[in-house]
Order: sequence, then C-alpha cells, then structure tokens
Amino acid sequence: VSARPTPDLVVLGDCNPDLVLSDPEIEPAFGQEERLIEHAELTIGGSGAIMACAAARLGLRTALIGLVGEDHFGRFMLDALAQRGVDVSGVVADDRLRTGLTVILARPDDRAILTFPGAIPSMAAERIDSELLHSARHVHVSSYFLQTGLVAGLEPVLRSVRAGGVSTSLDPNWDPSGRWDAGLRALLPQLDLLLPNAAEACRISGTEDPSAAALKLAEQGPLVAVKLGADGAIAADAHGRISEAPAPRGIEPVDTVGAGDAFDAGFIKAYLAGEGTDRALAFACACGALSTLAAGGVDGQPTLADARALAAAAE
Ligand SMILES: Nc1ncnc2c1ncn2[C@@H]1O[C@H](COP(=O)(O)OP(=O)(O)O)[C@@H](O)[C@H]1O
Ligand SMILES: [Mg+2]
Repeated sequence: VSARPTPDLVVLGDCNPDLVLSDPEIEPAFGQEERLIEHAELTIGGSGAIMACAAARLGLRTALIGLVGEDHFGRFMLDALAQRGVDVSGVVADDRLRTGLTVILARPDDRAILTFPGAIPSMAAERIDSELLHSARHVHVSSYFLQTGLVAGLEPVLRSVRAGGVSTSLDPNWDPSGRWDAGLRALLPQLDLLLPNAAEACRISGTEDPSAAALKLAEQGPLVAVKLGADGAIAADAHGRISEAPAPRGIEPVDTVGAGDAFDAGFIKAYLAGEGTDRALAFACACGALSTLAAGGVDGQPTLADARALAAAAE
C-alpha cells in the first residue's frame, strides 16, 4: 500500500533514452574514420516515456508502467521522468536486462535511427502493477509493435480495465517487422481510441488513403485519430463520421521527434475532459505542433495554457 496519488493516466510504455547526435551535414563513415559533430545530447526517449511526459506537462496525473535494466540508462530514465512529474513506481528495473537505447543521427533534412530494444520486448502483462493500472481513469499503450512480450497478454488486461470503467487508447507506432498485425486488429474492440500516423494507419488497415484507413479501423470499435504531420489530423468513428483539423499555421519545426506522442497526450487530455472529437483533434494538433519547436522528444512539450492558446487561435 502506498501514498501515491491515483493517476488520471497510466501509460504501458517503452522507456529508454535517445542519444541525439546532430550536425548540419552529419555523415557517419565506417573504416574507423573519426568525424566531429556540433551537438550531442542524451534525452528522454521511447514513445511511451515521451508521451507520459507530455501528459504530465498538460496537467494529467500520469504514471508509466514499463521495464528497464538496472543500469545507467535505466536510472537516467527514472530520474528524468520523475523530474517531469511522471510516477515511475510502476517501472520495473530487472538486473538481467539492459535498458534499450536509440541513437539518432540528425541533420536538418533527415535522420538515421538505430535502436537497441534492450528490455522493451521483455515487458509482459505479468509484470504490470495491477493496483496502479486499475486505479487509472485511462490506460494508454505505446509502441505496440515493439512491446512484443506485452502484447501477447494485452487483450485480457484491456478487457479487465474497461470492465472497471477505464477508457483505453493505443498508438501503434512503426512496425519494424513489416507485418503490421501482431494481434492488433483483434484488439481493436478493446480500444476507445486508436492513434496511428497516416503511414501506420494505411499499413495496419491495408488501405492507401488515411481517411479510408480511419473509417475501416473505426468499424471495429475505436474512435480513430490519424496524424498527418504538417497536414494536421483526421478522425473517424464507428458511425462513419469524419472530423478534420489542420495543423496550426506559422509553425516552423525544429525537430518533429515526439510530435505524435504530444498529439496523443493532447487528444487523451481533451477526451478525458469530455470534449467532442473536433475540439480534441484541434487541441491535439496544437500540442503536436508546439512540440516540434524544440529539439528532442520532450523539451517542446506545451503546458495546458500554451496548447489552449494555440488551439483557440487556430479556430
Ligand atoms: N511540420 C509540422 N507543422 C505543424 N504541425 C505538425 C508538424 N509535424 C507534426 N505536427 C503536428 O503533430 C502531430 C503529430 O505529428 P506526426 O508527425 O503526424 O505524428 P508521428 O510523430 O506519430 O508520426 C500532427 O498531427 C500535427 O498536428
Ligand atoms: Mg507516432
């Protein structure tokens, strides 16, 4: 029994640092060549961890449930998340595992990404702090296709939280295996919200157009909000209703890492406040857009006031 406050949101998510190496013209070379670059930073990575920070910044009481190794990168993540107000009491540190790491080689126009998944695929339903999970108002699953150990046991977990009146959402993120199912289609009836980007929605649904993808996926139950980068977002519900929101104008992105996670946090914040789909989409787009104004996944994440102001200006 603990004195921790009951969370609005529990994120079942990946938790690992991003090592971002940036330079106007970064070009790595094998053959033991050493090259100097302008900037290097270790920062909060992992879609789940980034999304949890975005939600905490918007004022949701947020807890992350995940898995790290008992190592420097794991401790770095726990400290950094706690500093940003995320409850990490549900993150398990396992001394038999290594914390994952993503190395991002970034230049203004493009980036190369190398990910060591580490502990991510070892997260499992049995490792979930069930008391914490069931105390939430909403449960969000990030990086579905990376958390291969978790997804095997996810259906009964979501079913039981929903039976207790908790709402659910899922951001698939990219599927490195290229198969784009892993039981996700069968899981759709257990989701209140599905939050893919356009490429992901099309691949999961086997369609070529984001609105067709949203409509098709929504037939299985969830409200589907599809992120369209600089074009904003669209949503479809099970009745075939479509909503659209443009991205706010006048945004000149510095770095789009984490934009989708900020969007997710914004959408869930509005959803839990009882906002309709149009307003939730516009608010989520404002959150995504603001997050692109700083480097890395977390540093541009807006406060509630900043996101509201931009969403209102876009109306
Ligand atoms: N270049 C941009 N200009 C304005 N808003 C953006 C831009 N890129 C992303 N956003 C906002 O962030 C949201 C999520 O970004 P997106 O890149 O579509 O998601 P993901 O990171 O999951 O691929 C978009 O729906 C949009 O509202
Ligand atoms: Mg994404």
